[in-house]
Amino acid sequence: MGNLVLYRKYRPQNWEEVIGQEHVVRTLTNALKLGRVAHAYLFAGPRGTGKTTIARILAKSLGCGDLDLIEIDAASNRGIDEIRELRDGIKFAPTVGKYKVFIIDEVHQLTKEAFNALLKTLEEPPAHAIFILATTEAHKVPETILSRVQSFPFRKLAVPEIIKKLEKIVEMEKIKIEPDALRLIATFAGGSYRDAESTLEQLRVWSDKTIVKEDIEELLGAVDFEKVKSITDCLFSDVPKGAIDYIAKLSESGVDLEVFTKALINHLRKIMLLKVDTSLSELMAQELSPNQFETIKTQAEKFSLDNAARAIKIFMVAQNDIKRSPIPSLPLELAVVEIINQNLESRI
Ligand SMILES: Nc1ncnc2c1ncn2[C@@H]1O[C@H](COP(=O)(O)OP(=O)(O)OP(=O)(O)O)[C@@H](O)[C@H]1O
Ligand SMILES: [Mg+2]
Repeated sequence: MGNLVLYRKYRPQNWEEVIGQEHVVRTLTNALKLGRVAHAYLFAGPRGTGKTTIARILAKSLGCGDLDLIEIDAASNRGIDEIRELRDGIKFAPTVGKYKVFIIDEVHQLTKEAFNALLKTLEEPPAHAIFILATTEAHKVPETILSRVQSFPFRKLAVPEIIKKLEKIVEMEKIKIEPDALRLIATFAGGSYRDAESTLEQLRVWSDKTIVKEDIEELLGAVDFEKVKSITDCLFSDVPKGAIDYIAKLSESGVDLEVFTKALINHLRKIMLLKVDTSLSELMAQELSPNQFETIKTQAEKFSLDNAARAIKIFMVAQNDIKRSPIPSLPLELAVVEIINQNLESRI
């Protein structure tokens, strides 16, 4: 079991192991007790919050065998064939137990034809059929479907809820991690337990020393290559508007600007080193994907060594100031204005 990825190993097998989503759990366990399970449910809510997990637990609680649990992913091929098969196969009785459970993931992706086929089935389902439709975008599910299902809104998981489950895993797996670091993972996950777990998974293989806050910042900085690349591109504009808008966008979407600036400094350092000595490229290529490496090389052509060095210095000051700034985005805004002005001057 040792090398099983965390999400497989710790996927909840029963109601007690589910975190959050109390309203869903309570309603469904009650329905099970009273024998009043509906024929069709819609689980709607953000990714990684337990929709598929709870759908499977519900199937299990209904005594549904593996062969009678059919999972369809509407995102993979938009489902026409699957729904047709479903419609044809649904009349056959379950192999064991009383129920056949159909889980249709990302149901909003079904084509119009597939929706219509599904609708027909939902109108007159055989007694043994239970549908669980899951979606991250409920507003894209047609009204005709919505009116035939019992809907459950799933909510983002709260940071303390995520921490509590992560703490258990850390203990069971004997992962050494500082509480601060665990909190940061939970915060970064943005309400998705899956994201939190996968960050922990990556960190576990990253180092065998105690995981600290900085490791996470570094790791997540690496994930955000695209963002860092975009703002670096903005530095060559004649006006700071693009860069300022981009910072506003980052800040609104909840990006930790301090971590972001750190990743940006790291990125610019690579550009600088590449300008100093092209033989460093091999070393760098190991840390980057081929595409990322190409990007850095292209961007390096636009910088003079001097400009790269100065930009790093300016962003280092900004990074320090972010903590103390009344407006977190202000130091970054000042920095890009200064850098763009300097780039302009050096071109004249
Ligand atoms: N509420 C929860 N309680 C316990 N574990 C959870 C919860 N939500 C998610 N997880 C864990 O995160 C993983 C992903 O969850 P799941 O597949 O159920 O998410 P989902 O809501 O179906 O996401 P998606 O919309 O991306 O399909 C699971 O393996 C499970 O271990
Ligand atoms: Mg799912």
